[in-house]
Amino acid sequence: MLNIVGIVLAAGLGKRMKSRLYKVLHPVGGKPMVEHVTGVLAEAGVERSVVIVGHGAEAVRSTLGSRVDYALQEQQLGTGHAVRMAEPLLMDLEGIAVVVCGDTPLITANTIREMLELHCRSQAAATLLTARFVNPTGFGRIVRGADGRIQRIVEEKDCNDIERAIEEINAGTYCFDSKKLFGALAKVTNENAQGEFYLTDVIRLLREDGHTIEGYCTADPAEAFGVNDRVALAEAERLMRERINRAHMVNGVTLIDPSATYIESDVTIGPDTVVYPGTVLRGKTAIGSDCVIGPNADIADSTVSDGAAVRQSVLTQASVGDNSTVGPFAYLRPGAKLGKDVRVGDFVEIKNAELDDGTKVSHLAYVGDAKVGKDVNLGCGVITVNYDGFDKHQTVIEDGAFIGSNANLIAPVTIGEGAYVVAGSTITKDVPAGDLAIARERQTNKTGYAGKLKARLKASKDRKLEE
Ligand code: UD1
Ligand code: CA
Repeated sequence: MLNIVGIVLAAGLGKRMKSRLYKVLHPVGGKPMVEHVTGVLAEAGVERSVVIVGHGAEAVRSTLGSRVDYALQEQQLGTGHAVRMAEPLLMDLEGIAVVVCGDTPLITANTIREMLELHCRSQAAATLLTARFVNPTGFGRIVRGADGRIQRIVEEKDCNDIERAIEEINAGTYCFDSKKLFGALAKVTNENAQGEFYLTDVIRLLREDGHTIEGYCTADPAEAFGVNDRVALAEAERLMRERINRAHMVNGVTLIDPSATYIESDVTIGPDTVVYPGTVLRGKTAIGSDCVIGPNADIADSTVSDGAAVRQSVLTQASVGDNSTVGPFAYLRPGAKLGKDVRVGDFVEIKNAELDDGTKVSHLAYVGDAKVGKDVNLGCGVITVNYDGFDKHQTVIEDGAFIGSNANLIAPVTIGEGAYVVAGSTITKDVPAGDLAIARERQTNKTGYAGKLKARLKASKDRKLEE
């Protein structure tokens, strides 16, 4: 069994981002760039990774946790220097070191696997990922010899005119024979335009020692895309979005307009679901099959089950059962749990409340800190009055109850099974099962009084005009 260890370079400040957030922690597709990279290494079968941290070391550690090992690079003296920081941890490694930059979020596990295969097959000392760019500005250029083999990498700032015109670039992803890597790194100097210890110099040194260098040229230039500023960040976001959306469409999801659909990388969607434009699906959201989502749905860390519809609504840490409908203009906050065939209509807010199968709350209502049974009808304007200024209290509404429009249910309160609350009531006491509760002022009709009132009002207006 071959030993393969990942080394992820994540110590740089990322000056060009002009941000308080360290570069590799900027999210792409809703996930920090460095987390994409460590995830891809794990997916490619690399069981152990060492992340080189420096600027923002604590923030990077708290993002990635104990999934990876860390080596500290106190001063950022260049990518070669950064890799050397892993040497004490990998001294005994007889095997392959896969080095990836933390700012290349679009690298894929498949490419790493294919690079590893080529690396082993050709018994190379180093195999590097290259790409062809029409405009290769900012990247190191790949210099090949007359035999077509890679000789060295020249950083853009060290290029002469001929080298600058080379379109094949270094993607910053490499497989190295670990022993040979650290052997060559010891010889790297900082005599170059940037005064840095370049990892890329290792290629020339290995080649001079007669070792084999392989290049794996990717057909998808996105894999080589490095983020150094916010313009590139937006471009990476676009490339990631295209990739994610394509994968969902290939899996049987209809996206009416993929260019206006924003789905983060960990979201799952079942087949035959239709997603309308303006929709944002975030975090750990899981959408079932045969759903209709959007337009303009913003759903984070929520579950939407098969056959459900969510239109023009905002959901956070909520769950929606089979064949339920939400919206337009509903707000489901954390702990909103809808069963099957539930209907939540316009201008309804639900927080920390369970609504069991078949329950309807069709318009203009607030349901917070509540447990609502099956087949309950909550009329227009119903409010669970859950907060007394100090504490939150629970409302329980049992199966089959009917709550009339504009009722206030002052919690803690329980409405029993099949009970009926009359419209406009303010309920302060429990309603037993099967009872009808009415809690409002009785109406009085004054015969003919409307005409008298109008006449009096008109007379008073006429008097004012005369004055
Ligand atoms: C590097 C490569 C270049 C390649 C490009 C691909 C070198 C010398 N150049 O250039 O050939 O085309 O990536 O994107 O390697 N880092 C550290 N410690 C340091 C310096 C950098 O951890 O002392 C980290 C950064 O956080 C970053 C990564 O290494 O994640 C790459 O550094 P960066 O400065 O962005 O290198 P490039 O100039 O892009
Ligand atoms: Ca870079």
